[in-house]
Amino acid sequence: MEDIYVARIDEFEDNSRKVISHGAHEVGVFHVDGSFVAWRNECAHQAGPVCQGRLFPKVTEPISDEGTVHGMQYVDGTLHIVCPWHGYEYDLRTGRNAGNDRLRLNKVDVLVKEGAVYVRL
Ligand code: FES
Repeated sequence: MEDIYVARIDEFEDNSRKVISHGAHEVGVFHVDGSFVAWRNECAHQAGPVCQGRLFPKVTEPISDEGTVHGMQYVDGTLHIVCPWHGYEYDLRTGRNAGNDRLRLNKVDVLVKEGAVYVRL
């Protein structure tokens, strides 16, 4: 295992990302609400470049007591990423697919030391 430099902490805005390549590895590093998380840039569906997908809050469609739906709404504090190839959607913090709990992204360890962010590969 090797610690690979990604960037200085101050180069990350909140809810931003950097996708790095190191040898055969491609990793997406995300800065979410003050902490860092990293995933291999391979979707659990067909290995698409999921870390380059769009980020947006989780969307729900609440059902009323009468069993009717009155539209969709965002869920604050839960950020999702959508794979650009076929639209599979994952929770950015947990890596879990929004529709199938058996599908998950592969986590990469992130280290923060001396003002910089590294991934362990
Ligand atoms: S490869 Fe990501 S949705 Fe198909």
